[in-house]
Amino acid sequence: MKNKLVFILLLSSFNLMANEIKVPMASVEIEVYRSPSCGCCSKWVKHLEENNFTVKDVVTNDVSSIKNKYAVPQEMSSCHTAIVNGYVVEGHVPANDIKQMLLNKPNIIGISVPAMPVGTPGMEMGERKDPYQVVSFDKDKKVQVVNSYEGN
Ligand code: CU
Ligand code: CU
Repeated sequence: MKNKLVFILLLSSFNLMANEIKVPMASVEIEVYRSPSCGCCSKWVKHLEENNFTVKDVVTNDVSSIKNKYAVPQEMSSCHTAIVNGYVVEGHVPANDIKQMLLNKPNIIGISVPAMPVGTPGMEMGERKDPYQVVSFDKDKKVQVVNSYEGN
């Protein structure tokens, strides 16, 4: 009985920490497609580099054809699209959530933070943080929440 309780406590503290744990990972190359005029895109690229990604920065005036090529659903779309180990990363996804995906290797097309919530990496505006979710999408158009961030 006592053991079971300890186990449950351990599990719940693990869940609490899942948001904050820094996933250790060797540097991985990520290709980022962004428009030349996008300031928040450059800031997101910086965020990736600060978190040990090797960024291949591809500047293009036609980001939407990249989104079509990689089957990013309209409702998942954001300003930039990135490709890492065959996965799509759409929008201002925190580096740690990308690392988590690379470790877990789920059977999905990719993950996204749709639109551009304030407070995501690259979308900082002072202290303001909007609540947002990281969602995955797959070939069968199934969308699942993989992480949630609280606003303030
Ligand atoms: Cu943006
Ligand atoms: Cu962007």
